Amino acid sequence: MNRPDNHILVIFGGRGDLAMRKIVPALYALYSEHLMPERFAVVATGRTGVTDEAYRGEVKKAIGGASGIKVSVTEDSLLPGADKTASAAAERSGANADEFVSLFHYIDFDTSVAGDYRRLPDFLEVIRQKFNIGGNILFYLSVPPDLYEVIPRNLAQQGLNNEGDGWKRMIIEKPFGYDYRSAGKLNRTLLETWSESQIFRIDHYLGKETVQNILVTRFSNGIFEPLWNRNYVHHVEITSSETLGVEMRGSYYEGSGALRDMVQNHLLHLVGFVAMEPPSSIDSTSIRNELVKVFESLRPISIDEVHKRTIRGQYTGAHVRGEWLKGYREEVNVDPVSMTETFAALKFNIDNWRWGGVPFYVRTGKRLPTRVTEAVIHFKPTPHYLFSGESLCDGCNQLIIRIQPDEGILLKFGMKIPGAGFKVKNVNMDFHYSDLAAERIPEAYERLLYDCMKGDSTLYTRSDAVMAAWKFLDPVLEAWKNDSSIPVYGYPAGTWGPEKADDLIEEPELTWRYPCKNLAEDGVYCEL
Ligand code: BG6
Repeated sequence: MNRPDNHILVIFGGRGDLAMRKIVPALYALYSEHLMPERFAVVATGRTGVTDEAYRGEVKKAIGGASGIKVSVTEDSLLPGADKTASAAAERSGANADEFVSLFHYIDFDTSVAGDYRRLPDFLEVIRQKFNIGGNILFYLSVPPDLYEVIPRNLAQQGLNNEGDGWKRMIIEKPFGYDYRSAGKLNRTLLETWSESQIFRIDHYLGKETVQNILVTRFSNGIFEPLWNRNYVHHVEITSSETLGVEMRGSYYEGSGALRDMVQNHLLHLVGFVAMEPPSSIDSTSIRNELVKVFESLRPISIDEVHKRTIRGQYTGAHVRGEWLKGYREEVNVDPVSMTETFAALKFNIDNWRWGGVPFYVRTGKRLPTRVTEAVIHFKPTPHYLFSGESLCDGCNQLIIRIQPDEGILLKFGMKIPGAGFKVKNVNMDFHYSDLAAERIPEAYERLLYDCMKGDSTLYTRSDAVMAAWKFLDPVLEAWKNDSSIPVYGYPAGTWGPEKADDLIEEPELTWRYPCKNLAEDGVYCEL
């Protein structure tokens, strides 16, 4: 068994959407896998007064809705050390839900009131004694970003950063900062009272199995790596599309937009994993060093180039399959004349020996036709095309790393159509991750929470990586903010974003990959 040390988990924002949709279900999954500490308790904070009992009711509801937790166990099971016995399978059926929720405690807490922080050490001491837990505490800041400086500073004033009696760690949600300057200030403020080793900046994409699998695909196989460079790769395309709109997150999203919400963190991390050099070993420092090197090699997009290298868009209302989907400006807590982008596409280069001259394209958007995240490596065409059939670039080999859903890898290559002549057709070699493990794939938050509890920061973002990512995007943010000649293109909900995005790809024969277009061929489930 590979259980983390006993500790108390304090969730700031314990009744919030993230806590209930992701954190609590992830804890329950770990608990069901016997991957939680022997002795453990959760203290959730929130501004509204509810009793422990009422809060436990909410937790129970949250785990009731947690998908895929009622699973059986095989030898290919989930995280390292997961209990693979039959009794674990029985317990995983949810029978221990009451015991699980009994570990939760609720405390009314106003993060702007100093007195509330003063109450916290005593409150934690009571829990510590009740459960016979030592001094380890993990704080999870599942709160609006403007509290990322306030809470850690106040916790430190109460000595709750002091590791004399056990470790103290803190998970901080994204967005980490608003731009380069604010991220730097946040880092400096945090480091006044906490050390880098105590700070875990979360980007849940790094917890996704399929994102980590990019490293395994690249570095455990001899066949890909020799081709993985400027000599053989024509361009790289990374897409993360969502069918959902902003839902009830209008007030957060208005201050964020797609570039800060998705590109600065999730998509640049995908770029980092696709583009990094082999790390010297698979430890936290080596992997994070290689990631930073990629970010630092991103060729800056100068303010003058922003209009040529980026496209932004915003969804407008449309009927999709008989249902009216509101435009972004009609969403709750969104300014009716908002210029916030819900779609962003960028073209950029990585200036290093491996990638010199290879364009990278990334795009993300809300209210697109399907939910899919994928990285596509487009290999160069053959130097001379002998056969009739599909056009030159349909014939480019593509390796598609599908992050979600239907996690897997697809290799597209040309084959002879049986019969006379030499007609060529693109076919797929298609691996589905689900074939590897009969299990559900663990949620990213399970892996990340577990790693933090074990003190493993490999899949968390180091401050230099955050800063390098902001540095790269700052000119784009600035130009988008100040240059009104850069349009925010409207695109109807349910489409692939502004058509203008195709102009980013300068070669006339090339377009973005539209994963829903060739449904039968791609096997992607199209929701809209
Ligand atoms: C979050 C963003 O970080 O990632 C959301 O704030 C987005 O706007 C979400 O919807 C996407 O995550 P996933 O795992 O569904 O791709």
